[in-house]
Amino acid sequence: MRLTHRLSLSLAVVVATVSLAFAYYGMRSETKRLEQNLDRQALVLAESLADSAEPLVANRSYRELDRLVDRFQDRERIAGVAVYNKTGEPLAVTRGLESRVQKNPSVVTHVIEEGWARSEFLSLAHGPLHVAALPLRANGMVAGALAIFHDAAYIQLQTASMWRRALLGVAIETALIVAITLLTLRWGFGRPLHGMAQWLRALREGDVAEAPNLSNKGEFEPLTREVSHLASSLTAARAAAEEEARLRDTAESTWTSERLRVFVKGRLDGRRLFVVSNREPYEHIHGPNGIECRMPASGLVTALEPVLRACDGMWVAQGTGNADAETVDVNDRVRVPPDNPQYALRRVWLGTEEEEGFYLGFSNEGLWPLCHIAHTRPLFRGGDWEHYKNVNRKFADVVLAEIENEESPAILVQDYHFALLPRMIKQARPDARVAIFWHIPWPNPEAFGICPWQRELLDGLLGADLIGFHIQAHCNNFLETVDRVLESRLDRESFTVNRNGHHTTVRPYPISVTLGRNETEKEGIDLPHMERSALLANLGVRATFMGIGVDRIDYTKGIPERFRGIEAFLEKCPAYRREFTFVQIGSPSRTEIKRYHDLMEEVEQEADRINRRFETSDWRPIVLLKWQHSHEEILPYFRKADFCLVTPLHDGMNLVAKEFIAARDDDQGVLILSRFAGAAHELGDALVVNPYDTEELADAIHRSLEMSPEERRIRMQRMRAIVRERNVYRWAGTLIGDLCERQTPKMMPALLRAVAKVS
Ligand code: G6P
Repeated sequence: MRLTHRLSLSLAVVVATVSLAFAYYGMRSETKRLEQNLDRQALVLAESLADSAEPLVANRSYRELDRLVDRFQDRERIAGVAVYNKTGEPLAVTRGLESRVQKNPSVVTHVIEEGWARSEFLSLAHGPLHVAALPLRANGMVAGALAIFHDAAYIQLQTASMWRRALLGVAIETALIVAITLLTLRWGFGRPLHGMAQWLRALREGDVAEAPNLSNKGEFEPLTREVSHLASSLTAARAAAEEEARLRDTAESTWTSERLRVFVKGRLDGRRLFVVSNREPYEHIHGPNGIECRMPASGLVTALEPVLRACDGMWVAQGTGNADAETVDVNDRVRVPPDNPQYALRRVWLGTEEEEGFYLGFSNEGLWPLCHIAHTRPLFRGGDWEHYKNVNRKFADVVLAEIENEESPAILVQDYHFALLPRMIKQARPDARVAIFWHIPWPNPEAFGICPWQRELLDGLLGADLIGFHIQAHCNNFLETVDRVLESRLDRESFTVNRNGHHTTVRPYPISVTLGRNETEKEGIDLPHMERSALLANLGVRATFMGIGVDRIDYTKGIPERFRGIEAFLEKCPAYRREFTFVQIGSPSRTEIKRYHDLMEEVEQEADRINRRFETSDWRPIVLLKWQHSHEEILPYFRKADFCLVTPLHDGMNLVAKEFIAARDDDQGVLILSRFAGAAHELGDALVVNPYDTEELADAIHRSLEMSPEERRIRMQRMRAIVRERNVYRWAGTLIGDLCERQTPKMMPALLRAVAKVS
């Protein structure tokens, strides 16, 4: 039987039973009330009649008695009156009553014997009668009795008609409740479920993407959410399978998130992966609609999430969101991603002074300019160094506590914020496999030698089993620096440093972005393809050609130099005035540091100065958008620009260059790339420039605008092939694969050690 039928049947039975029970109870009360009324009325009447009858009985005036009782002949509801002597013999009876009451009612005998009024109902052949009897007295003694008989059939008639009405009411009520329930089920659940079933079928057959719009959002919200997750997992799995099949078919060896997941799971062999970085992958903040979870548009998260999900790993990072503390458990952990939790984010809290000394001071005023040759002098303060050491210790203690019961865990430390961490971890846990990836350049030994604590930093790094840089040149600089500064043995063939018996391998792992069918789908390629004129019109300019630049506002990115290149181009090629606009998206960064604060002003002033020189009423050469843009907001600019200017003065890799290439699925657009960016080592088809050379910049801009579509296509296709092949999954796969190959001494985790001790 269908659920709706079962439900309606049960509802009907329950509603009818309950209603009938109530009706029965009501009926009983009503009958009782009618009977009591009749009783009361009969006794009152009997009492008034007794006053008249008593002297007649005492005086034996039987004729008068006859007259008295006959007065009640043909009265409505009164069947008659009877008067009895003290032995119960009838003295006078209303005519016609004898034929209905053949023998004395027992109540009369009782009344004469007891001397009290009584009443009862008689069931007779002609119908029910009610009799109320009173004693008649003479000289204080019972001399007889008077009985009044009422026709009680009307009570039964009224009860029967009430039953009829009640049954009709019960039937209507039951039918209404069942009908409303059925309708609610049909509209509220049946239709959405039907819609969901159809959608699931379409999904199974492979031609659907969006979840159905269910009307009952409240009730169906959890179901919709789960089904949507299921759908996106299915879509992703299908896309991954198709991609794998395609790759097998074309004998390509491209890395996908699925391949990375499977590969790393195999390499880790049941061990967990721990990632440590200063920036967290998810930040909770108080928004207008409560706590929101934000994910940075970071290549690192894209690359490391599949791995962390595969091994239920943990990401240890500084908690920086203003609602971060409210969203962690007692152990400062929160499961992420929020909509489908698969790994743990362990937050570490820093105080204001720690933040200033460790993050702003030593990391970003010291190491950052030290490693980037961008002519901003590094600042090294003793206080900052102390904070740097202490915060590294704090993170090391957190990691050590988290890996306490893990056997040979793999730990991937990120960037220059944690140079001391590898040694700190390895000292306590030699069995852990530790890698550090240095996302920024490593300068030559002379430049690095400025740092008063270069020995400590190098020693901290050499605690790792594996050190990764983006390019070979940075590996070489690092090995040179180690060679000059520390006691160690270098093997330049295998790129290994042996310090006090511990081996550290130094290798290049060029980081990248995602480019491929499943990635494109994930990134929602159905974003509106806005036309260039519309994009520019939104910015209040009218132009035919467009260039784009996307950077954090950082002095290493060469933004003012870039603007001067645009100025030189407009000087050299006046025909492009009023025809060409450069859009610079610049997200403010590290603004608490004076150098960054000053740079913001410098960038604005340069843009204003150049604009004032050339602008007209509806055109200006530079549009500066100084706020954080999401990947989706940047994508239309990447897609519609004639060229992208990536001109850092020095950069480890620079992912903007690769993101621009990934966005150009039309095989058009020109990349103008600084030779001082790590990316220039891979992307030879870009127009490679010296960002300090204003004339060269101007010429590259001119060349990119004049380049034939065919040349643009060939260059872009070759660069896309490189980015597709060397994508971010390959970066994570080779890095973690190499880490897992490092030999470390076996050690029992704490739990096993404790158990072994006890037994
Ligand atoms: C560079 C560093 C990253 C850092 C990012 C943003 O790419 O290599 O480690 O996270 O800049 O800088 P921020 O100081 O905001 O974390």
